Amino acid sequence: MKIILLGPPGAGKGTQAKLISEKYSIPHISTGDIFRKNISEKTQLGIKAKEYMDKGLLVPDELTIDLVNDRFTNDDCKNGFLLDGFPRTVKQAEALENFLKAKGEGIDTALLIEVPGSYILDRMTGRRVCPSCGASYHIKFNPPKVDGLCDLCGSAVVQRKDDSEETVKERIDVYEKQTQPLVDFYKQKNQLFVVDGTQLIDEVFKIISNHIEIEGNK
Ligand code: AP5
Ligand code: MG
Ligand code: ZN
Repeated sequence: MKIILLGPPGAGKGTQAKLISEKYSIPHISTGDIFRKNISEKTQLGIKAKEYMDKGLLVPDELTIDLVNDRFTNDDCKNGFLLDGFPRTVKQAEALENFLKAKGEGIDTALLIEVPGSYILDRMTGRRVCPSCGASYHIKFNPPKVDGLCDLCGSAVVQRKDDSEETVKERIDVYEKQTQPLVDFYKQKNQLFVVDGTQLIDEVFKIISNHIEIEGNK
């Protein structure tokens, strides 16, 4: 399966991605997580990406597209992938389409997790993330089993630098201007599936799983 996850900041893309990737054994490719890893390792890419991410802006398309194309060459992508946070601009979506078309392939589905703006700030400011494995938690809605420690790998969870109120507002604005057009892009191709992301995490996952199984049997 080749799946794209779309949705505003805080919609629950990362949360659902972990569940989907585990259940269907496809790699979870989060461009945000890859950039954050590069930032913590102080690579050239990380140094460049940080300038944009700290402001809530998108990292330039060229850097992002090369990064994802390179990631696709990894062996674990043989049976598909789950993209979280990519594509985020029409240019990225076209690049992905061309990359797959060259191999006679295409994506199976684009899942849009819809959440109104009024939910986003609460979700972002209460979020805690695992710096080692990328898992997302929430102090109220989805706390780790042991306070402050990741359920999956035991590392201490932290707050993301771009989860301050001011940066979140900028990220929502950037989403509306640059990423929202992708909703129509995939709708026109009959590849869009919309799920209401205001429901409980398990409910959202159930709806997504049903859809993936229907698509998988086509
Ligand atoms: P990225 O890391 O992708 O951030 P984002 O899109 O802003 O999305 P988030 O990770 O903030 O939200 P999410 O939807 O994953 O929510 P989560 O599951 O954590 O990108 C960061 C930056 O990197 C960008 O701003 C940009 O600079 C750069 N970048 C990345 N990709 C790029 C690209 N392709 N091109 C250019 N630049 C790029 O959930 C949020 C919180 O809510 C958590 O606390 C969670 O526990 C909780 N929660 C989740 N689901 C529920 C639920 N159903 N009910 C209650 N709480 C819930
Ligand atoms: Mg995320
Ligand atoms: Zn972890």
